[in-house]
Amino acid sequence: MQIHPTIAGLRAALADAGRVAFVPTMGNLHDGHIALMRQARSQADVVVASIFVNRLQFGPKEDFDKYPRTFENDCARLTDAGVDILFAPDEGEMYPTPQRYHVEPDAAHITILEGAVRPGHFGGVATVVLKLFNIVQPDVALFGKKDYQQLMVLRNMVRELALPIEVIPGETIRAEDGLALSSRNGYLSATERAEAPRLYRQLDRIRSRIAAGERDFLRLETEAVAELAAHGWQPDYIAIRRRADLQAAANGDALVVLGAARLGNTRLIDNLEI
Ligand code: PAJ
Repeated sequence: MQIHPTIAGLRAALADAGRVAFVPTMGNLHDGHIALMRQARSQADVVVASIFVNRLQFGPKEDFDKYPRTFENDCARLTDAGVDILFAPDEGEMYPTPQRYHVEPDAAHITILEGAVRPGHFGGVATVVLKLFNIVQPDVALFGKKDYQQLMVLRNMVRELALPIEVIPGETIRAEDGLALSSRNGYLSATERAEAPRLYRQLDRIRSRIAAGERDFLRLETEAVAELAAHGWQPDYIAIRRRADLQAAANGDALVVLGAARLGNTRLIDNLEI
């Protein structure tokens, strides 16, 4: 695998490349990331991954400084997964002067759910992803459903700015007990790790209740929040929404149930399509 820390070096390596698939990450790679790499491998001639912990998408009180950085191990995993090229810029390369031009997603998409709890987050994600797209110029880009609202925002950005890129979603990869894999799972104590799958189980319970005909969404959401709170969680939201734009669902919409809650000092998110 080639590793390029500079935009110029990456561009030279990609001159005359065939079909390019791109998987952006912030590193600390786990099997969820690797599944996206393998899916990318089946889509293109050249697979490009990036590792860049993007300051713009972290709030002032969030974990930017302590976000896990495991570069050597990540490189070994990417090589294993058949990735051809890794773009791994430092902050100076990505943001040489403070970044003054930003993508501003539709307020309706970024003031709800994760956006309500993390102001500025999705603007920071959209800005770095647009910049990475301009650097890599991929034909396809892959994003996990684990970050469902991120996927929705980026799909809309690609469509509304007419970027010539196909966005392909990857299914959420889980541990055997249902917990969605996440770099932040490493923050959990052993006791918290044993408790953590409850979030998934609550979402799954809602999925099966809706499949069985239950239509009182508010009641299902409220029950799940209470169940988590009763086991020591601090839930931010449990929300049944329509998939397309994550707004309130009407009859006949394809649905997704999303949840976010803090367990100790760790904030976990998850979702299930219904
Ligand atoms: P990061 O959290 O490193 O995730 C990189 C990609 O892996 C995202 O598309 C995410 O949805 C996907 N992913 C994470 N956990 C997953 C799991 N358990 N199963 C399947 N896919 C999973 O998301 C980001 O980085 C950043 O916001 C980024 C898009 C790179 C912009 O900075």
